Amino acid sequence: MSSPPHTSSRTPDVLVVGGGIIGLVTAWRAAQHGLATALADPEPGGGAAQVAAGMLAAVTELHHGEQTLLALNLASARRYPEFAAELAELTGHDPGYRRCGTLAVALDADDRAHLRELHALQQRSGLESEWLSGRECRRIEPMLAPGVRGGLRVNGDHQVDPRRLAAALVAACERAGVAFRRVWADRLTVGRGERATGVVTADGTALEAGQVVVAGGSLSGRLSGVPQDLLPPVRPVKGQVLRLTMPRTHGPLLNRTVRAVVRGNPLYLVPRESGELVVGATSEELGWDTTVTAGGVYELLRDAHELVPGITELPLTEARAGLRPGSPDNAPLLGPTGLDGLQLATGHYRNGVLLTPVTGDVMAHALTTGELPAEARPFTPRRFSAAPALPEQPA
Ligand code: GLY
Repeated sequence: MSSPPHTSSRTPDVLVVGGGIIGLVTAWRAAQHGLATALADPEPGGGAAQVAAGMLAAVTELHHGEQTLLALNLASARRYPEFAAELAELTGHDPGYRRCGTLAVALDADDRAHLRELHALQQRSGLESEWLSGRECRRIEPMLAPGVRGGLRVNGDHQVDPRRLAAALVAACERAGVAFRRVWADRLTVGRGERATGVVTADGTALEAGQVVVAGGSLSGRLSGVPQDLLPPVRPVKGQVLRLTMPRTHGPLLNRTVRAVVRGNPLYLVPRESGELVVGATSEELGWDTTVTAGGVYELLRDAHELVPGITELPLTEARAGLRPGSPDNAPLLGPTGLDGLQLATGHYRNGVLLTPVTGDVMAHALTTGELPAEARPFTPRRFSAAPALPEQPA
């Protein structure tokens, strides 16, 4: 028979479940707003940020039907310079924000048609991007393959190093007094007043809190005790990512992030000042599988080689798979739910790194006021609650 949960002594105002970058930024900003904050995760700073490339690609990753998300993405991109500077100054950890811009290129007629379509959508959305011929692309990125047929230069899409960002956020939380509970949260507890009151952890400890925020990335739908109709509809979307090392002796292999869609597969190469070159990413609906496969690595290297033939000379230093937290409309779920005391910060899908600054601000507002700020209202989790019954049609 399992023993009853033992209770921890102090009750925080907020308990964040999940210590990836979204949980960390939520906890940090909550603590900065004067809320006593705890965070439950066996390994804070882990999760998808350890795999992600860190593109801040609001413009180059624009998709049809995602105009509402675009506004939030742009709001977060605008906050990045100040956000990164604040983190660096407070913690001494530089999160590696780099204003390098992005070039999206086409290798064949289909890719070019796809990019032309993206360019038109960007223009209709009032975004800045410039069409370049193949020759112009190679002038700014000389290591590109001679076959590049044209491209889109986007000077406003930059990058950050997600691993360094995670380390800086852990340090910022520590400095702000966030109490880390290095254990999985197993079950949400709901009190008599139909209110979330805390969680029970994997070691049987009951952690009480005034409010609970589920920020567990792709695992967010697996916290037991959450009423069925409020479980976040988040699913894992696997991404395999490679890390190579560029030599420091000759100039940089690439000056900016280079992207392409090769035979329908999105591909990106993100060069860091440290010499790391990140090549990503597959997008696979395979449940919880995080196997790095020969096929995944082969396809990434084959496509990257078509784009930048010189990459085959580089040492391959890492191959890893992570899980994006996909949501039904590709947008995050932020703020209060239908259960008092339970909030969400999850479902960021392809945009978790980009949306980190705005998520911190939105969640601090939601936790201190109980309401979402105007910019985040479209992202309420309530949009996925059961639709109200339609009025009956007259006979
Ligand atoms: N935003 C890049 C990716 O999800 O692969």
